[in-house]
Amino acid sequence: MGNKKIFIARKIDDKGIEMLRSHKNFDIKINPKDEVLSESELIENAKGSDAIVTLLTDKIDEEIMDKVGPNLKIIANYAVGFDNIDVEAAKKRNIAVTNTPEVMTQAVAEHAVALMLTCARRIVEGDKYIREKKYKQWEPELLLGPEIAGKTLGIVGIGRIGSSLAEIAYHGFGMKILYHDIQHVEEIERTLQADFVSLTTLLERSDFISIHVPLLDSTRHMISSGEFELMKKTAILVNTARGGIIDEKALIDALREKKIFAAGLDVFENEIPSEELLALDNVVMTPHIASATHEARRSMAKCVAENVIEVLSDRPAKSPCWK
Ligand code: GLV
Ligand code: GLV
Repeated sequence: MGNKKIFIARKIDDKGIEMLRSHKNFDIKINPKDEVLSESELIENAKGSDAIVTLLTDKIDEEIMDKVGPNLKIIANYAVGFDNIDVEAAKKRNIAVTNTPEVMTQAVAEHAVALMLTCARRIVEGDKYIREKKYKQWEPELLLGPEIAGKTLGIVGIGRIGSSLAEIAYHGFGMKILYHDIQHVEEIERTLQADFVSLTTLLERSDFISIHVPLLDSTRHMISSGEFELMKKTAILVNTARGGIIDEKALIDALREKKIFAAGLDVFENEIPSEELLALDNVVMTPHIASATHEARRSMAKCVAENVIEVLSDRPAKSPCWK
């Protein structure tokens, strides 16, 4: 039997690569460039592979699957979200698709808290104020914002990340937790006294709103102009999920017209934020780094390697995206 070919579309943490290299019958090829491959480069490099390791910046559709060829058994995505992969097309071809859930939950939940605090306490505006040499002395009304303790946090999507944020917010800040999802999660209702509410009620009552749903047809533009109308003028909206869940034009209007207090964004509708967003002071932006902790990235690499090893050894994937 010949060796199994694995193509890794971008260098990931060494730990995962070492795990794959320790398998004698794996031939591993890694994208030599530190940039996203074009579709044709990806196909050229991945042709004939048994496994490909993809990043959320690699869009994998059925054409790519067919061009990589009939040996392809697994597409292991180095991310928890997998909206970059046509999962239905993979399923039809019996190609496993895997993601990296669990291992990055804490990192993303912590980043959501960081954005909540940064927006509330106007950290970025304060930093800019100092760098622009405007700070001379203590001022009684300089950069005021809300406290978090005792406020209401509305969590849209109560999967692992949403639940982890709920725990931090409840135990750390004594926040009241509201959540909206397609299903009830009794455990957080019991342990965190969280209330399941409609999206409308959540938007009307929350002081902080954090988005934790995947990007699907049903969640695209879930937060648009009508939703901003429901929010409190003092609301802070945080998005560490996917940009397309929020209608960015409606968000810009809401921020510009001060319909909400501020937004903290790690993701954008078109990956890069628009110029109009950049011009606003009441938005804090980070470059899609919510899972960028040393701990999470190392564990994500291990998770990717484990999935590849399992599937290429004819065992079930550890974290399959379809069953
Ligand atoms: C990051 O956004 C991920 O889905 O892993
Ligand atoms: C991701 O791991 C989630 O379930 O939110």
